[in-house]
This record gives sequence, C-alpha cells and structure tokens, in this order.
Amino acid sequence: MSHAKQGRVFSGMQPSGEAHLGNYLGALRQWVELQETHECFFCVVDEHAITGEYSPSDLPGRVFDLAVSFLAVGLDPARSTIFVQSDVSEHVVLAWLFNAVAPVGELERMTQYKDKSTNLESIPVGLLNYPVLQTADILLYRADLVPVGEDQLQHLELSREIARRWNARFGEYFPEPQPVISRAGRILGLDGNAKMSKSLGNTVGILAEPEEIWERVRTAVTDPQRVRRTDPGRPEVCNVYSLHKFFTPPEELPDIAAQCRGATRGCVDCKRILSDHIAEHFAPIRERARDLKADPNQVREILDAGAEKARAEARETLEEVRERMGMRWRDLPILST
Ligand code: AMP
Ligand code: TRP
Repeated sequence: MSHAKQGRVFSGMQPSGEAHLGNYLGALRQWVELQETHECFFCVVDEHAITGEYSPSDLPGRVFDLAVSFLAVGLDPARSTIFVQSDVSEHVVLAWLFNAVAPVGELERMTQYKDKSTNLESIPVGLLNYPVLQTADILLYRADLVPVGEDQLQHLELSREIARRWNARFGEYFPEPQPVISRAGRILGLDGNAKMSKSLGNTVGILAEPEEIWERVRTAVTDPQRVRRTDPGRPEVCNVYSLHKFFTPPEELPDIAAQCRGATRGCVDCKRILSDHIAEHFAPIRERARDLKADPNQVREILDAGAEKARAEARETLEEVRERMGMRWRDLPILST
C-alpha cells in the first residue's frame, strides 16, 4: 500500500443500517481523521450481526446503508480500505485458528456476552465467540490501533490476550492492538439515560431529513427537574445541551446555557435550535448519501475493490499463520516430487 504512515488501523461496525449520532461522534468522525495519518481498514461486520437477533432478508439492505453512511461521512476509498467482512472469508478462518488459544473463562466474563446471553433459552456459541472473531478482524491486518467506543475496551483487552497467547505458542508475529478512544465519550440516547443505540430506538440517524431530525429531537428528554417552562434548567445534566456542545457553534453556547438556567428560553425552542444545527451539520453528508444511493453500483464497486485489497493482506497473514501452526503438510519431504 502506498502510504506506510504512522501505523495500521482497523475498525468495524455492525450493519444496523444508517449510522446514528452515537456512531458518528463516537467512531466515524475519528475514522475520517485517522485516514489522513494512518493506513486504515474499515469494515462492515455482517458476520458479527448474525450472533444476535436479525432478519436474513433485511441484512443486505443494512449492510448497504451502513456502507453509504461510511462513504457519505468521508471515508475515502482512495485512502482507506473499505469492505464487507463476509467478502473476505479469511476472517472466519483466522477466528477458528484463534480458537486454539482463546480462553473460554475470559470469554464468559465479557460484559457484552453476559448482557446478551441472559434471558436466552439457548445461547449460540457465536455469542460467546464474538470477541474471537473481532480479534481475527483486527489481527488479520496486523493492525496496532483500533478506534472504538469505550464499550469495546474489554473486547480489545481480550484481543491483546489472544495475541499474546498465540505469539507465545507459535512465535512472535502479531502486534498487541491498542484502542483509540474518541474524545466524545458515550453519547446518550434521546431518552436521556441509556446509550444511544439502534436497538433502544433512541437515535437520530445521520442521514435523516431535517423534518425527521426535528421529529426525533423534539421528543428528547431534558433536565428532569425542569418540569415547567418557568423552572430554571441545569445545562450540565441536560441531554439536549450535551448535544449542543457537538453541533452548535461554541460562541453560541454560553447564551444557550444562560437562557436555560434563567428559564428565559423553553426546552422546545432550545431543541429547535439544536435540531437546526444538526440538520445543517449533516447537509453535505446527506447530499453525498443521496448521490450514492442513486448510484448503487458505485457503492458496490468501491466495496468490491476494498475486499480485493483486504484479501491480499489477509492471505499473506493467513499463509504465515498456517505455516507456524503446522498446516503445511505438503511440505513434508517424503511428499515432495
Ligand atoms: P455498534 O453500532 O454498537 O456496532 O457501534 C459501532 C461503533 O460506534 C463502536 O465503536 C461504538 O463504540 C460506537 N458507538 C455506538 N453507539 C455509541 C454511543 N451511543 N456513544 C458513543 N459511541 C458509540
Ligand atoms: N464489536 C464491535 C462493536 O460492537 C464491532 C467490531 C467487530 C469491531 N469487529 C471489530 C470493532 C474489530 C473494532 C475492531 O462496536
């Protein structure tokens, strides 16, 4: 690859359709910056999606919509390798090979696993194995940096553990991948407490039209103590204010906070301002998404080219891994012709 920059980056996102503000502030925005300085691989991880509830007939559309979001926010196929996980079958192969060293006890201790497996009558092995596939995603490209949200730190710790165990058993080869955590922290959902997440229905999509953004933002929970229009509010605990900090020009923030504290502006008006700024921020991104959706073949070609580049790297890694794990039986001298 042309730019051996400051190291290799890999990150993935599950295909739950169009990205939302949490994905954008917590991950995508940073991915776009990293491609300036690092050699980057960005992946729609559809093989992770099958470990939870999903509909096979919806999955292709969700993959496509997330790929459109990737490209619309500015991930650039000229600078990054952008692809779909299932197009590069080496991911599942390496995950299986890592099963030789991945510790069950630690997999069972993952909070995401515990959250997702409670209340299930029958737990699919894939749910337990999820972080092994995630480790394979990263190490297949020997990536040393992984930009993710805080919720993924535990998985990454396990990835390092798997890398260490594999290296100890088969010889030093894989880097121990380090997280790069976004400055944004965890973005709250519109309902104010849980994390913004598609499955909780508390998101604002980054490609939503202005009216739709308003429809969503209008329902946002604000300072719970500000019951009446005349009650003074507390911007420091208000969900809406926390979003203002990302989308409203910094010079307007002191006024917004003061008008909340002094109850001189109501929550609805305050949300309107936020909604307008969100709509404005994403206007060029919506525009690019419209063009991409009008030309789906262009998206397909980008993902195909990405998969091809990814595959070349992946094959090289797997070749080395197979060699070290003793899977080159044809090299036995008695078999050579
Ligand atoms: P997911 O949609 O859960 O696959 O998450 C994809 C990426 O977006 C991960 O790096 C997450 O950590 C990040 N992310 C998702 N939701 C949020 C949120 N509410 N706040 C911050 N980051 C998030
Ligand atoms: N588990 C990650 C999430 O839910 C998605 C993911 C899969 C990932 N493979 C990855 C993230 C590899 C970083 C690197 O957000």
